Amino acid sequence: MCKRLGIGNEIADTNGGAGLEPAQVKGKMKGLILSGGRGTRLRPITYTSAKQLVPVANKPILYYGIECIRDAGIGDIGIIVGDTQCEIEAAVGDGSRWGVKIAYIRQQEPLGLAHAVKIAEPYLGEDHFVMYLGDNLVKDGITSLVREFEVERPNAQILLAHVDNPQEFGVAELNGDHVVHLVEKPKEPQSDLALVGVYMFDHHIFEAVKAIQPSARNELEITDAIQYLIDRGYRVRSHIIGGWWKDTGKLEDMLEANRLMLDALERCVEGSVAEDSQIHGKVVIGAGSRVIHSEVRGPAIIGENCLIESSYVGPFTSIQSGVQIIESEVEHSIILENSRVIHIGSRIEDSLLGKNVEVRRNHRKPRAYRLMLGDSSQVNLP
Ligand code: DAU
Repeated sequence: MCKRLGIGNEIADTNGGAGLEPAQVKGKMKGLILSGGRGTRLRPITYTSAKQLVPVANKPILYYGIECIRDAGIGDIGIIVGDTQCEIEAAVGDGSRWGVKIAYIRQQEPLGLAHAVKIAEPYLGEDHFVMYLGDNLVKDGITSLVREFEVERPNAQILLAHVDNPQEFGVAELNGDHVVHLVEKPKEPQSDLALVGVYMFDHHIFEAVKAIQPSARNELEITDAIQYLIDRGYRVRSHIIGGWWKDTGKLEDMLEANRLMLDALERCVEGSVAEDSQIHGKVVIGAGSRVIHSEVRGPAIIGENCLIESSYVGPFTSIQSGVQIIESEVEHSIILENSRVIHIGSRIEDSLLGKNVEVRRNHRKPRAYRLMLGDSSQVNLP
Protein backbone atom coordinates (compact mmCIF):
# COMPACT_ATOMS: atom_id res chain seq x y z
CA MET A 1 0.00 0.00 0.00
CA CYS A 2 1.32 3.46 -0.90
CA LYS A 3 1.41 6.19 1.74
CA ARG A 4 -1.35 8.74 1.17
CA LEU A 5 -0.47 12.35 0.45
CA GLY A 6 -1.41 14.60 3.34
CA ILE A 7 -1.04 18.09 4.65
CA GLY A 8 1.85 18.97 6.96
CA ASN A 9 1.28 19.77 10.57
CA GLU A 10 3.01 23.02 11.27
CA ILE A 11 2.85 26.48 9.82
CA ALA A 12 5.40 29.29 9.82
CA ASP A 13 4.36 31.89 12.34
CA THR A 14 5.55 35.45 11.83
CA ASN A 15 4.71 36.34 15.43
CA GLY A 16 7.24 33.88 16.70
CA GLY A 17 4.89 30.94 17.33
CA ALA A 18 3.26 30.13 20.60
CA GLY A 19 5.05 26.78 20.97
CA LEU A 20 2.07 25.53 22.94
CA GLU A 21 1.49 21.99 24.13
CA PRO A 22 -1.89 20.35 23.54
CA ALA A 23 -2.44 20.18 27.31
CA GLN A 24 -2.71 23.98 27.38
CA VAL A 25 -5.60 23.97 24.95
CA LYS A 26 -8.89 24.99 26.55
CA GLY A 27 -12.46 24.36 25.51
CA LYS A 28 -14.02 22.87 22.46
CA MET A 29 -13.58 24.11 18.95
CA LYS A 30 -15.51 23.26 15.80
CA GLY A 31 -14.64 23.41 12.13
CA LEU A 32 -16.71 25.10 9.41
CA ILE A 33 -15.78 24.33 5.81
CA LEU A 34 -17.38 26.40 3.07
CA SER A 35 -18.22 24.21 0.08
CA GLY A 36 -21.12 26.05 -1.46
CA GLY A 37 -20.66 28.72 -4.11
CA ARG A 38 -20.93 28.50 -7.88
CA GLY A 39 -17.39 27.83 -9.08
CA THR A 40 -17.92 30.04 -12.15
CA ARG A 41 -14.18 30.41 -12.79
CA LEU A 42 -13.81 26.64 -13.28
CA ARG A 43 -16.59 26.12 -15.80
CA PRO A 44 -17.36 23.80 -17.54
CA ILE A 45 -15.94 21.40 -14.91
CA THR A 46 -18.22 22.95 -12.26
CA TYR A 47 -21.38 22.47 -14.35
CA THR A 48 -21.27 18.82 -13.39
CA SER A 49 -19.04 18.74 -10.35
CA ALA A 50 -18.36 20.70 -7.16
CA LYS A 51 -15.14 22.68 -7.47
CA GLN A 52 -14.11 21.48 -4.02
CA LEU A 53 -14.14 17.90 -5.32
CA VAL A 54 -11.74 18.48 -8.20
CA PRO A 55 -8.71 16.40 -7.31
CA VAL A 56 -5.24 17.78 -6.70
CA ALA A 57 -2.64 14.98 -6.82
CA ASN A 58 -5.64 12.63 -7.24
CA LYS A 59 -7.32 13.70 -3.97
CA PRO A 60 -10.31 16.07 -3.81
CA ILE A 61 -9.27 19.49 -2.54
CA LEU A 62 -11.94 19.32 0.15
CA TYR A 63 -10.30 16.26 1.71
CA TYR A 64 -7.11 18.23 2.38
CA GLY A 65 -9.19 20.77 4.31
CA ILE A 66 -10.92 18.07 6.38
CA GLU A 67 -7.56 16.47 7.18
CA CYS A 68 -6.04 19.81 8.08
CA ILE A 69 -8.82 20.52 10.60
CA ARG A 70 -8.78 16.96 11.94
CA ASP A 71 -4.98 17.16 12.39
CA ALA A 72 -5.50 20.30 14.46
CA GLY A 73 -7.49 18.17 16.92
CA ILE A 74 -10.99 19.26 15.86
CA GLY A 75 -13.55 16.46 15.64
CA ASP A 76 -16.79 18.29 14.75
CA ILE A 77 -16.94 19.81 11.29
CA GLY A 78 -19.90 21.54 9.65
CA ILE A 79 -19.79 21.74 5.87
CA ILE A 80 -21.70 24.52 4.11
CA VAL A 81 -23.18 23.09 0.92
CA GLY A 82 -25.17 24.53 -1.96
CA ASP A 83 -26.46 23.00 -5.19
CA THR A 84 -23.74 20.33 -5.13
CA GLN A 85 -24.84 19.04 -1.70
CA CYS A 86 -25.62 15.48 -2.91
CA GLU A 87 -22.26 15.07 -4.60
CA ILE A 88 -20.36 16.41 -1.60
CA GLU A 89 -22.31 14.24 0.82
CA ALA A 90 -21.69 11.18 -1.36
CA ALA A 91 -17.95 11.87 -1.42
CA VAL A 92 -17.46 12.84 2.23
CA GLY A 93 -20.14 10.88 4.10
CA ASP A 94 -20.37 11.18 7.87
CA GLY A 95 -16.65 11.80 8.30
CA SER A 96 -15.92 8.49 10.02
CA ARG A 97 -13.23 7.78 7.42
CA TRP A 98 -11.24 10.60 9.02
CA GLY A 99 -12.42 9.97 12.57
CA VAL A 100 -14.50 13.18 12.61
CA LYS A 101 -18.22 13.96 12.79
CA ILE A 102 -19.52 15.86 9.77
CA ALA A 103 -22.77 17.86 9.69
CA TYR A 104 -24.10 19.44 6.50
CA ILE A 105 -25.54 22.93 6.51
CA ARG A 106 -27.54 23.92 3.43
CA GLN A 107 -27.07 27.39 2.00
CA GLN A 108 -29.90 28.01 -0.47
CA GLU A 109 -28.00 30.73 -2.36
CA PRO A 110 -24.28 31.63 -2.30
CA LEU A 111 -24.89 34.96 -0.58
CA GLY A 112 -21.37 35.34 0.76
CA LEU A 113 -18.91 33.94 3.27
CA ALA A 114 -20.43 35.96 6.12
CA HIS A 115 -23.87 34.68 5.13
CA ALA A 116 -22.52 31.13 5.45
CA VAL A 117 -21.36 31.96 8.98
CA LYS A 118 -24.78 33.41 9.78
CA ILE A 119 -26.67 30.28 8.79
CA ALA A 120 -24.17 28.11 10.69
CA GLU A 121 -24.97 29.79 14.04
CA PRO A 122 -27.39 27.08 15.21
CA TYR A 123 -24.65 24.49 14.56
CA LEU A 124 -21.78 26.49 16.05
CA GLY A 125 -23.64 27.95 19.05
CA GLU A 126 -21.24 29.46 21.58
CA ASP A 127 -18.28 27.37 20.42
CA HIS A 128 -15.36 29.09 18.80
CA PHE A 129 -14.47 27.74 15.40
CA VAL A 130 -12.08 27.62 12.49
CA MET A 131 -13.61 28.57 9.18
CA TYR A 132 -11.86 27.01 6.18
CA LEU A 133 -12.70 27.83 2.56
CA GLY A 134 -13.23 24.49 0.82
CA ASP A 135 -11.25 25.50 -2.28
CA ASN A 136 -8.15 26.57 -0.33
CA LEU A 137 -5.03 24.53 0.32
CA VAL A 138 -2.61 25.40 3.13
CA LYS A 139 0.17 22.92 2.71
CA ASP A 140 1.72 23.20 6.17
CA GLY A 141 -1.55 22.81 8.03
CA ILE A 142 -3.12 24.91 10.77
CA THR A 143 -2.33 22.98 13.93
CA SER A 144 -0.07 25.49 15.68
CA LEU A 145 -2.37 28.37 14.78
CA VAL A 146 -5.43 26.64 16.18
CA ARG A 147 -3.54 25.92 19.39
CA GLU A 148 -2.43 29.48 19.72
CA PHE A 149 -5.94 30.78 19.09
CA GLU A 150 -7.26 28.45 21.77
CA VAL A 151 -4.80 29.69 24.33
CA GLU A 152 -4.72 33.38 23.45
CA ARG A 153 -8.45 33.58 22.80
CA PRO A 154 -8.64 36.68 20.62
CA ASN A 155 -12.09 37.30 19.14
CA ALA A 156 -10.77 36.57 15.67
CA GLN A 157 -7.55 35.36 14.09
CA ILE A 158 -6.79 35.77 10.40
CA LEU A 159 -4.01 34.46 8.19
CA LEU A 160 -2.31 36.64 5.63
CA ALA A 161 0.08 35.92 2.77
CA HIS A 162 2.13 38.14 0.47
CA VAL A 163 0.79 37.80 -3.08
CA ASP A 164 1.54 39.30 -6.50
CA ASN A 165 -2.14 39.91 -7.34
CA PRO A 166 -3.75 41.35 -4.17
CA GLN A 167 -6.67 42.85 -6.12
CA GLU A 168 -8.04 39.28 -6.47
CA PHE A 169 -8.33 38.76 -2.69
CA GLY A 170 -9.40 40.35 0.54
CA VAL A 171 -6.51 42.68 1.41
CA ALA A 172 -5.26 43.73 4.86
CA GLU A 173 -3.53 46.91 5.92
CA LEU A 174 -1.43 46.55 9.04
CA ASN A 175 -0.09 49.07 11.49
CA GLY A 176 2.83 47.16 12.97
CA ASP A 177 1.26 43.86 14.00
CA HIS A 178 -2.27 45.30 14.14
CA VAL A 179 -4.82 44.87 11.39
CA VAL A 180 -6.38 48.26 10.82
CA HIS A 181 -8.23 47.86 7.58
CA LEU A 182 -9.59 45.03 5.42
CA VAL A 183 -10.98 45.48 1.92
CA GLU A 184 -12.46 42.81 -0.34
CA LYS A 185 -10.84 42.71 -3.80
CA PRO A 186 -9.77 46.38 -3.90
CA LYS A 187 -9.04 47.95 -7.30
CA GLU A 188 -6.10 49.77 -5.76
CA PRO A 189 -4.73 47.54 -3.00
CA GLN A 190 -2.91 49.34 -0.20
CA SER A 191 -0.75 46.28 0.55
CA ASP A 192 0.18 42.92 -0.96
CA LEU A 193 -1.18 41.03 2.04
CA ALA A 194 -4.05 38.76 1.01
CA LEU A 195 -6.48 37.14 3.39
CA VAL A 196 -5.90 33.39 3.33
CA GLY A 197 -9.08 31.31 3.40
CA VAL A 198 -8.65 30.16 7.01
CA TYR A 199 -10.15 32.21 9.84
CA MET A 200 -10.74 31.60 13.54
CA PHE A 201 -13.60 33.19 15.43
CA ASP A 202 -15.44 33.23 18.72
CA HIS A 203 -19.20 33.84 18.89
CA HIS A 204 -18.85 37.64 18.50
CA ILE A 205 -18.63 37.07 14.75
CA PHE A 206 -22.41 36.42 14.75
CA GLU A 207 -23.02 39.96 15.98
CA ALA A 208 -20.85 41.18 13.07
CA VAL A 209 -22.43 39.07 10.30
CA LYS A 210 -25.89 40.25 11.40
CA ALA A 211 -24.85 43.90 11.39
CA ILE A 212 -23.14 44.22 8.00
CA GLN A 213 -24.82 45.03 4.67
CA PRO A 214 -24.33 43.20 1.34
CA SER A 215 -21.41 44.44 -0.78
CA ALA A 216 -21.53 45.80 -4.33
CA ARG A 217 -21.45 42.17 -5.61
CA ASN A 218 -24.43 41.50 -3.34
CA GLU A 219 -22.59 39.22 -0.92
CA LEU A 220 -22.19 39.44 2.84
CA GLU A 221 -18.41 39.69 2.95
CA ILE A 222 -16.44 38.12 5.78
CA THR A 223 -13.88 40.93 5.35
CA ASP A 224 -16.61 43.45 6.27
CA ALA A 225 -17.59 41.35 9.27
CA ILE A 226 -13.98 41.27 10.52
CA GLN A 227 -13.69 45.03 9.90
CA TYR A 228 -16.80 45.42 12.08
CA LEU A 229 -14.99 43.56 14.88
CA ILE A 230 -11.89 45.78 14.47
CA ASP A 231 -13.97 48.98 14.47
CA ARG A 232 -15.68 47.97 17.70
CA GLY A 233 -12.45 47.22 19.51
CA TYR A 234 -12.67 43.43 19.45
CA ARG A 235 -9.29 41.68 19.41
CA VAL A 236 -8.32 40.56 15.88
CA ARG A 237 -4.93 38.87 15.56
CA SER A 238 -3.12 38.21 12.31
CA HIS A 239 -0.34 35.97 11.06
CA ILE A 240 1.59 36.21 7.85
CA ILE A 241 2.08 32.63 6.76
CA GLY A 242 5.42 31.52 5.40
CA GLY A 243 4.55 28.23 3.72
CA TRP A 244 2.61 28.08 0.49
CA TRP A 245 -1.11 28.53 0.24
CA LYS A 246 -3.37 28.31 -2.79
CA ASP A 247 -6.89 29.39 -3.59
CA THR A 248 -7.72 26.88 -6.34
CA GLY A 249 -10.62 28.86 -7.80
CA LYS A 250 -8.98 29.22 -11.23
CA LEU A 251 -7.37 26.70 -13.59
CA GLU A 252 -3.82 28.06 -13.30
CA ASP A 253 -4.06 28.01 -9.49
CA MET A 254 -5.44 24.49 -9.56
CA LEU A 255 -2.51 23.36 -11.73
CA GLU A 256 -0.07 25.16 -9.46
CA ALA A 257 -1.59 23.48 -6.38
CA ASN A 258 -1.29 20.16 -8.19
CA ARG A 259 2.36 20.90 -8.93
CA LEU A 260 3.11 21.79 -5.32
CA MET A 261 1.30 18.75 -3.91
CA LEU A 262 2.96 16.35 -6.37
CA ASP A 263 6.34 17.65 -5.29
CA ALA A 264 5.72 15.95 -1.93
CA LEU A 265 5.04 12.54 -3.50
CA GLU A 266 6.87 9.40 -2.50
CA ARG A 267 7.55 6.90 -5.24
CA CYS A 268 5.22 3.92 -5.19
CA VAL A 269 4.59 1.65 -8.14
CA GLU A 270 1.78 -0.88 -7.64
CA GLY A 271 0.76 -1.23 -11.28
CA SER A 272 2.81 -3.00 -13.91
CA VAL A 273 5.58 -1.37 -15.91
CA ALA A 274 6.73 -3.19 -19.04
CA GLU A 275 10.46 -3.65 -19.61
CA ASP A 276 10.36 -1.31 -22.57
CA SER A 277 9.20 1.59 -20.36
CA GLN A 278 11.03 4.07 -18.12
CA ILE A 279 9.86 5.56 -14.86
CA HIS A 280 11.92 8.50 -13.57
CA GLY A 281 11.72 10.17 -10.18
CA LYS A 282 8.77 10.44 -7.80
CA VAL A 283 6.04 8.52 -9.54
CA VAL A 284 2.96 6.80 -8.13
CA ILE A 285 1.25 4.17 -10.27
CA GLY A 286 -1.92 2.65 -8.83
CA ALA A 287 -2.92 -1.00 -8.76
CA GLY A 288 -4.16 -2.47 -12.03
CA SER A 289 -2.55 0.25 -14.16
CA ARG A 290 -0.25 -0.71 -17.05
CA VAL A 291 2.60 1.28 -18.52
CA ILE A 292 3.69 -0.10 -21.87
CA HIS A 293 6.35 1.25 -24.23
CA SER A 294 6.16 4.63 -22.46
CA GLU A 295 8.07 7.07 -20.31
CA VAL A 296 6.74 8.58 -17.08
CA ARG A 297 8.73 11.41 -15.58
CA GLY A 298 7.84 12.42 -12.02
CA PRO A 299 6.56 13.95 -9.98
CA ALA A 300 3.43 12.39 -11.40
CA ILE A 301 0.58 10.27 -10.14
CA ILE A 302 -1.39 7.70 -12.12
CA GLY A 303 -4.49 6.21 -10.48
CA GLU A 304 -5.81 2.67 -10.70
CA ASN A 305 -6.63 0.70 -13.84
CA CYS A 306 -5.09 3.18 -16.27
CA LEU A 307 -3.39 2.34 -19.54
CA ILE A 308 -0.37 4.36 -20.63
CA GLU A 309 0.78 3.03 -23.97
CA SER A 310 3.40 4.38 -26.40
CA SER A 311 3.14 7.68 -24.56
CA TYR A 312 4.99 10.22 -22.44
CA VAL A 313 3.63 11.43 -19.09
CA GLY A 314 5.66 14.40 -17.94
CA PRO A 315 6.23 16.10 -14.58
CA PHE A 316 3.36 17.56 -12.53
CA THR A 317 0.68 15.42 -14.09
CA SER A 318 -2.16 13.80 -12.14
CA ILE A 319 -4.07 11.08 -13.92
CA GLN A 320 -7.11 9.63 -12.18
CA SER A 321 -8.29 6.05 -12.34
CA GLY A 322 -9.51 4.43 -15.54
CA VAL A 323 -7.72 6.89 -17.85
CA GLN A 324 -6.11 5.79 -21.11
CA ILE A 325 -3.23 7.67 -22.72
CA ILE A 326 -2.26 6.09 -26.01
CA GLU A 327 0.35 7.43 -28.47
CA SER A 328 0.18 10.83 -26.81
CA GLU A 329 2.12 13.17 -24.53
CA VAL A 330 0.76 14.84 -21.40
CA GLU A 331 2.52 17.18 -18.99
CA HIS A 332 1.61 19.60 -16.16
CA SER A 333 -2.05 18.61 -16.37
CA ILE A 334 -4.90 17.03 -14.45
CA ILE A 335 -6.96 14.33 -16.14
CA LEU A 336 -10.08 13.10 -14.40
CA GLU A 337 -11.41 9.57 -14.33
CA ASN A 338 -12.12 7.42 -17.36
CA SER A 339 -10.92 9.99 -19.89
CA ARG A 340 -9.06 8.94 -23.03
CA VAL A 341 -6.29 10.74 -24.88
CA ILE A 342 -5.59 8.80 -28.03
CA HIS A 343 -3.17 9.21 -30.96
CA ILE A 344 -2.71 12.91 -30.31
CA GLY A 345 0.88 12.85 -31.47
CA SER A 346 1.62 16.29 -30.00
CA ARG A 347 1.66 17.25 -26.32
CA ILE A 348 -1.18 18.28 -24.00
CA GLU A 349 0.07 20.78 -21.42
CA ASP A 350 -1.38 23.05 -18.69
CA SER A 351 -4.75 21.38 -19.10
CA LEU A 352 -7.62 20.08 -17.00
CA LEU A 353 -9.75 17.37 -18.63
CA GLY A 354 -13.02 16.40 -16.92
CA LYS A 355 -14.42 12.91 -16.46
CA ASN A 356 -15.07 10.67 -19.48
CA VAL A 357 -13.51 13.19 -21.86
CA GLU A 358 -12.15 11.87 -25.12
CA VAL A 359 -9.47 13.67 -27.12
CA ARG A 360 -8.38 11.76 -30.19
CA ARG A 361 -6.84 12.34 -33.58
CA ASN A 362 -8.56 10.63 -36.46
CA HIS A 363 -7.61 10.50 -40.07
CA ARG A 364 -11.04 11.05 -41.63
CA LYS A 365 -11.08 13.28 -44.72
CA PRO A 366 -11.53 16.18 -45.02
CA ARG A 367 -9.07 16.92 -42.20
CA ALA A 368 -10.82 19.14 -39.68
CA TYR A 369 -11.19 19.80 -35.95
CA ARG A 370 -14.34 17.96 -34.92
CA LEU A 371 -15.42 19.13 -31.49
CA MET A 372 -18.19 18.53 -29.02
CA LEU A 373 -17.49 20.98 -26.20
CA GLY A 374 -19.68 21.88 -23.24
CA ASP A 375 -20.62 25.49 -22.45
CA SER A 376 -17.66 27.61 -21.32
CA SER A 377 -15.09 25.09 -22.59
CA GLN A 378 -11.75 26.43 -23.75
CA VAL A 379 -9.61 24.99 -26.53
CA ASN A 380 -6.26 26.53 -27.47
CA LEU A 381 -5.05 25.17 -30.78
CA PRO A 382 -1.39 25.53 -31.82
O1 DAU B 1 -9.13 32.39 -1.04
C1 DAU B 1 -9.05 33.49 -0.20
C2 DAU B 1 -10.13 34.51 -0.55
O2 DAU B 1 -11.40 33.85 -0.42
C3 DAU B 1 -10.04 35.73 0.39
O3 DAU B 1 -8.86 36.47 0.16
C4 DAU B 1 -11.25 36.64 0.17
O4 DAU B 1 -11.21 37.69 1.10
C5 DAU B 1 -12.55 35.84 0.36
O5 DAU B 1 -13.68 36.65 0.10
C6 DAU B 1 -12.57 34.65 -0.58
O6 DAU B 1 -12.64 35.13 -1.92
P1 DAU B 1 -13.15 34.26 -3.16
O7 DAU B 1 -13.75 35.17 -4.18
O8 DAU B 1 -12.02 33.39 -3.62
O9 DAU B 1 -14.29 33.36 -2.52
P2 DAU B 1 -15.17 32.28 -3.28
O10 DAU B 1 -16.41 32.92 -3.80
O11 DAU B 1 -14.31 31.53 -4.25
O12 DAU B 1 -15.59 31.31 -2.10
C7 DAU B 1 -14.67 30.64 -1.29
C8 DAU B 1 -15.25 29.30 -0.84
O13 DAU B 1 -16.46 29.48 -0.11
C9 DAU B 1 -15.57 28.34 -1.98
O14 DAU B 1 -15.26 27.02 -1.56
C10 DAU B 1 -17.07 28.49 -2.16
C11 DAU B 1 -17.55 28.79 -0.75
N1 DAU B 1 -18.73 29.68 -0.67
C12 DAU B 1 -18.70 30.89 -1.27
C13 DAU B 1 -19.77 31.75 -1.17
C14 DAU B 1 -19.73 33.11 -1.83
C15 DAU B 1 -19.84 29.26 0.04
O15 DAU B 1 -19.85 28.13 0.60
N2 DAU B 1 -20.91 30.10 0.13
C16 DAU B 1 -20.93 31.34 -0.45
O16 DAU B 1 -21.95 32.06 -0.33
